[in-house]
Amino acid sequence: MRGRAEECGLLDGLLADVRRGEGRCLVLRGEAGIGKTALLDYLVELASDVRIARAVGDGAGVRQLASALRADA
Ligand SMILES: Nc1ncnc2c1ncn2[C@@H]1O[C@H](COP(=O)(O)OP(=O)(O)OP(=O)(O)O)[C@@H](O)[C@H]1O
Ligand SMILES: [Mg+2]
Repeated sequence: MRGRAEECGLLDGLLADVRRGEGRCLVLRGEAGIGKTALLDYLVELASDVRIARAVGDGAGVRQLASALRADA
């Protein structure tokens, strides 16, 4: 992952939290082609032992889903 050390570090921390038994909800936003899917693929590759639900969308739908997941945590 070129030029994404900071983002990868955040994802590594998030994964460590989940492995400690905490739920986490990640909202990854950015312009088309900026590398969102590449970052998610990085996370999924590291996290084969962890259950991940992925959803793609824009605006209100994703905010609604994220808030439901947080409420459920
Ligand atoms: N850190 C990176 N270094 C080099 N190439 C990258 C990096 N991140 C993404 N790419 C490349 O850039 C292109 C676009 O990346 P990606 O598909 O992840 O973007 P996206 O934000 O998911 O796009 P979209 O909004 O269309 O879904 C891909 O060819 C991908 O391999
Ligand atoms: Mg994408």
